[in-house]
Amino acid sequence: MASGARLQLLLALWMLAAPARPVAADAGDGGWQRRGPGAAAAAVAEEERCAVERRADLSYSEFVQHYAFSRPVILQRLTDNSRFRALCSREKLLASFGDSVVRLSTANTYSYRKVDLPFQEYVEHLLHPQDPTSLGNDTLYFFGDNNFSEWASLFQHYSPPPFSLLGTTAAYSFGVAGAGSGVPFHWHGPGFSEVVYGRKRWFLYPPEKTPEFHPNKTTLAWLQDVYPALAPSERPLECTVQAGEVLYFPDRWWHATLNLDTSVFISTFLS
Ligand SMILES: *[C@@H]1O[C@H](CO)[C@@H](O)[C@H](O)[C@H]1NC(C)=O
Ligand SMILES: *[C@@H]1O[C@H](CO)[C@@H](O)[C@H](O)[C@H]1NC(C)=O
Ligand SMILES: *[C@@H]1O[C@H](CO)[C@@H](O)[C@H](O)[C@H]1NC(C)=O
Repeated sequence: MASGARLQLLLALWMLAAPARPVAADAGDGGWQRRGPGAAAAAVAEEERCAVERRADLSYSEFVQHYAFSRPVILQRLTDNSRFRALCSREKLLASFGDSVVRLSTANTYSYRKVDLPFQEYVEHLLHPQDPTSLGNDTLYFFGDNNFSEWASLFQHYSPPPFSLLGTTAAYSFGVAGAGSGVPFHWHGPGFSEVVYGRKRWFLYPPEKTPEFHPNKTTLAWLQDVYPALAPSERPLECTVQAGEVLYFPDRWWHATLNLDTSVFISTFLS
C-alpha cells in the first residue's frame, strides 16, 4: 500500500474511533461544549486576522497611557480566576443555581423581550447553537439582569481587572450563551469583558464611525449578510477573545459580539 493511502486509511480509522474515546470529566470547557450533530451547523470561524493588540502583564500606567482612552486591547494574565472558572462549570452552576430564576433577553439593539425562567431550564432547553435558518429571529440569552443577592456566592470569587478609571464605579454582568448568539452593534461606557469558557468574537468601531447594521437582526445575520460586502476601509476592528482573556473597550466604542462556542463570560462595566 502506498504510504499516502495508508495515512488516509489510518486517518479514517482514527476519525471513526474518535467519538468513542472517553471524554475527560472537565476537558477544559467546563462541560459546556456539546459536540452533537447540531453543533457543527452553527460553527462560525474566527477572523482571518486579529487586529486588536494582545498584551500580557500590562502595567496600569501603560494601560492608561496607551489604551484606556484611545483603543481596545486584549489583556492576558491580568488576574488568576481559576477558582471562579471552576465554579462556572456546567455541573457546578447547575448544582448551585439550577433553581434560580434568571431574566433572559433577546439580543436586539432596540426590541427587548424579557423572559424569566429557572436557570436549569434555560441551560437544558434553550442553550443550544443558534438555528441558522432563523437568523432574523431573536435568541433568548442570559446576560446581565443578574440578581446580585442570589449570585453573590459566585461573584465574590471573581477578581475583576485591577484597572480602575477615575470617577467610575464598576458593575458586573454575568452571562451564559449558546454558540452563534451575540449582541448586535451598540455602545455605552468603557468596560472589560472576560471569557470564562468558550470563545467570543468581537467587532469594534471607534465612536465617530457608526457601523452599517440593522438593529433588529442578530450579529450572525450581520456577519453573513453585511460583513462580506464591506470595503476594506469599512471593516471593523475584530478579534476572538479566548477563555482566560479580557477585552477592554473604551468609552462609546461601537461593538457587536458573537459567541463561537457555548460561552460563559463576565463583564465589568465602568460608569
Ligand atoms: C425593530 O423592531 C421593533 C419591535 O418589533 C419595531 O418597533 C422597529 O420598528 C424595528 N426597527 C426597524 C429598524 O425595523
Ligand atoms: C421565532 O421563535 C419563536 C420561539 O421559538 C417561534 O414561536 C416563532 O415562530 C419564530 N419566528 C420566526 C419568524 O421564525
Ligand atoms: C433576588 O433574589 C432574592 C432571593 O431569591 C429575591 O427575594 C429578590 O426578589 C430577587 N430580586 C430581584 C430584583 O429579582
